Amino acid sequence: MNYTKEDFGDDFKWGVSTAAYQVEGAHDMDGKGASIWDVFANTPGRTLDNQHANETCDFYHHYAQDIALMSAMNIPNFRFSISWSRILPNGTGTINYKGIEFYNKVINFCLELGIEPWITLYHWDLPYELEKKGGWTNRDIIGWFCDYVAVCMKAFGDRVKHWMVLNEPLVFTGAGHFLGIHAPGKKGLNNFLAATHHAALCQAEGGRVVKDFLPNSKVGSTFSCSYIQPYRQTERDYLAAKRVDALVNRLFIEPLVGKGYPVKDFKLLQRLEQFVKAGDESRLSFDMDFIGVQNYTREIVAYSYYKPFIWARIVPATDRMVDITAMKWEVYPECIYEMLKKFDSYKNIKELIVTENGAAFPDVVVDDKVYDHQRTKYLQQHIKQVLRAKREGINVSGYFVWSFTDNFEWAEGYQPRFGLVHVDFKTQKRIVKSSGKWYGEFVKSRADNSPWSIVNSP
Ligand code: BGC
Repeated sequence: MNYTKEDFGDDFKWGVSTAAYQVEGAHDMDGKGASIWDVFANTPGRTLDNQHANETCDFYHHYAQDIALMSAMNIPNFRFSISWSRILPNGTGTINYKGIEFYNKVINFCLELGIEPWITLYHWDLPYELEKKGGWTNRDIIGWFCDYVAVCMKAFGDRVKHWMVLNEPLVFTGAGHFLGIHAPGKKGLNNFLAATHHAALCQAEGGRVVKDFLPNSKVGSTFSCSYIQPYRQTERDYLAAKRVDALVNRLFIEPLVGKGYPVKDFKLLQRLEQFVKAGDESRLSFDMDFIGVQNYTREIVAYSYYKPFIWARIVPATDRMVDITAMKWEVYPECIYEMLKKFDSYKNIKELIVTENGAAFPDVVVDDKVYDHQRTKYLQQHIKQVLRAKREGINVSGYFVWSFTDNFEWAEGYQPRFGLVHVDFKTQKRIVKSSGKWYGEFVKSRADNSPWSIVNSP
C-alpha cells in the first residue's frame, strides 16, 4: 500500500517528542532543585556505565537552536515536558521564577516559529524533596501534584493549548517502584500498588485542574502499551497473556474511563483496595479530550512458574528470530494498529493521538551524515499502520516521533539513540539524520509527485 501525507487529512497533527530529564541538562542551574532522576542516575551502579543526564543534550542552553532546527525540518508540533523541580525546587511552595522564564522562552520561541507546544506535566522526574516524604507512595502526592499543575496553568496556560498529565504511569510505577530499575529505585508490591493508586488518582485530578483553569484547552494523558500475544495456544499461556495485558495495557486507562482496575483478569490487583479511600472510585475517572498512545513493539508471553505474582514471562525477541531494534525490541508494525484498535474500543474515547513511536538503532556518523535507513523504514511502516487504523474509522488524529534528538535513555544511558537528529554529546553538535530529513519532507509534502510525497512502504 502506497500512501501520502494527504491521506491523513489536513487536521492530522505531526510532531516530535522529548522529555525534560532526557534533554535539558543544566541539572542544578538557576535555582533548579534535584529530581529523583538526578539522584538516581548520580548513584553508582544504577545506569549503564553510571551515565547521568547532568548535561545530556543541554537543551537548556540549545533550545533556540533546536527549535529553529525543528522549524527548518517543517515539524509543526513539539511535545516536551516540564521539570517540576525546575519551577518548584522543593516540589511545593516557593516558585523558581528562573525556571518559569526558561519554559516561557521555549514556548514563546515555538509560537514565534509557528510550532505548537504540547506539554507533558510529569515525565518521571519527581522533585527529590517530595521523594524524601514518600513520593508517589504518599497519598499527599495528590495535593502536591494538583498545586504544581495549577502553577503551570497560571504560568503557561495563556499560550499552551495542549496538555498531557502523566507520561506512561505504568513505567514509573513498575520500573521505579516494583523492579527498582528506574528512579526512585524502590522495590516491592506495596510500593508499586501505592504508587499505582496515587498516580491513577493524579492523572484524573490533574486533568480536572487543567480544565478548571483552561476550559478551552485540550487535555489528555499518555499510556505505554504493547500488543500482547500468547506464546503457545494453551490455556495457561492464554491466561498468562491476559494477566500481562491487564497490567501492561489496562491498569491506568480503565480506571480513567470509569471501568475501575482490571481486577477480573489479574486478581492480584485486588490488593490495591488497601489504598482506596471512600470516594476514590469516582475520583479515578475523568473524561479526557484525547488519549496519548505510546507504542514501540509487541510482547509474546508464556506461563512461568518462576515469576511470582504475575506467573508469566516475556519470551525475548532475541530468542524469536525476528527483526529487533537496539533496545532488543521486536519490529512489528502491526502492533500500533492493534493498540489503536484496543484503545478505541473503550466507550467515550474522543480522540487518540500517537504521542510516541520510534526506534533506536546503532547509528554511525560518516562524513557528517547519518544514513539510518532502518529508522526511516520503521517510521514508514508504523505510520502506514496508523493510516490503516484511521481508514477503519478509528479516530486517531496525530503522530509524534520519539524522539527529536538523541538523548539520555534512562537506565540504558546514551547507548540507544532514538533521535531524528544525531547529537554528539561531547561537542553538542547536531546532525539531521536521513530519517529526520525524510520525516520533515513527508510532513511538508503535498501529493505533487515530489519524491517525498508518496511513501512506498514495505
Ligand atoms: C518514554 C521515553 C523513552 C522511550 C523509549 C517511553 O517509554 O516515554 O521517555 O525514552 O519510551 O524507551
